[in-house]
Amino acid sequence: MLTDEPPVLQARDLHAGYRGVPCVRGVDLDVHPGEVVVVLGPNGAGKTTTLLTMAGALPGLGGDVLWRGAPTKAPLHRRVGDGLGVVPEERSITSRLSVLDNLRIGAGPVERALELFSELRPLLGRRAGLLSGGEQRMLATARALAAGPSVLLADELSLGLAPMIVSRLMRALREAADQGATVLLVEQHARKALAVADRAYILQRGAVVWSGTADEARRNLRRIERAYLGQDGAGARD
Ligand SMILES: Nc1ncnc2c1ncn2[C@@H]1O[C@H](COP(=O)(O)OP(=O)(O)O)[C@@H](O)[C@H]1O
Ligand SMILES: [Mg+2]
Repeated sequence: MLTDEPPVLQARDLHAGYRGVPCVRGVDLDVHPGEVVVVLGPNGAGKTTTLLTMAGALPGLGGDVLWRGAPTKAPLHRRVGDGLGVVPEERSITSRLSVLDNLRIGAGPVERALELFSELRPLLGRRAGLLSGGEQRMLATARALAAGPSVLLADELSLGLAPMIVSRLMRALREAADQGATVLLVEQHARKALAVADRAYILQRGAVVWSGTADEARRNLRRIERAYLGQDGAGARD
C-alpha cells in the first residue's frame, strides 16, 4: 500500500556510527504509514547502524530522526511505549525460557502471536534455545507483531534461513502492513524482501546510492545486484 500520508518515521541527513566516528553519512529515508520499506546493501554498508539509530537504540551523530513528523532523541524504550517494535539482528529471545514464556514476556497477547504464527503452537513447551534458527526468528517476529506496533523495524530476518521460511516471514510482515502497521526492514536477501516491499533504499558505504519503488527495483534487479550488492549477487541466492 502506497500512501500520501506524511512519513511516520524519517531520517534526515542522518549521520550515525560508533564512538563519535560516523559510518553512516547523510542518509535521507522516509517510511510512510502502511508501507513496507526495505533497506538493502552489502555487509558493512551501515544498514544495522541506520536502523538502530532510527530506533533510538544508538545516539545519532548528526542530522535528525523524525518520529511522526517531530525530531526525536528519545531512547528506544520510550519509542517502544509509543508504538515502535524492533526485531534486532542479534538473538532477541531468551534461550532458557520456553516458547510460551518468551511469548508471555512480550507486550502483546500470546494468542495473537499464535494466530500470526500457528507453527509455534506445537512448540510452546520447548525451550527457545532448542528451536531451529527459523523457528527462533518466527518466535521473535510473532512476539513483536503480537504487540501491534504501529511501526516495526526488523533487521535481517532472513539471515541463514531456508528460502521457504524467509518467504513465510516476509509474508507476515506484508500482512501486518496490510492491516495498518508500517514496516522498515533491513535485508541482504533482496529478492525475497522486494517481493513484499513497497519501496527500497540501497546503502553502500554508509550512503544511499539508490532508492525507488520496489517494483522498479524488481524490474532492474540484475543491474542493481551487479552495481550495488556485489558481483556474487548477494541477496539473490535463489
Ligand atoms: N559496535 C560497533 N562498533 C564499531 N563499529 C561498528 C559496530 N557495529 C558495526 N560497526 C561498523 O560500522 C559499519 C557499518 O556496520 P553495520 O551497520 O553493522 O552494517 P550492515 O548492517 O549493513 O552490515 C561497519 O564498518 C562495521 O564494521
Ligand atoms: Mg547488519
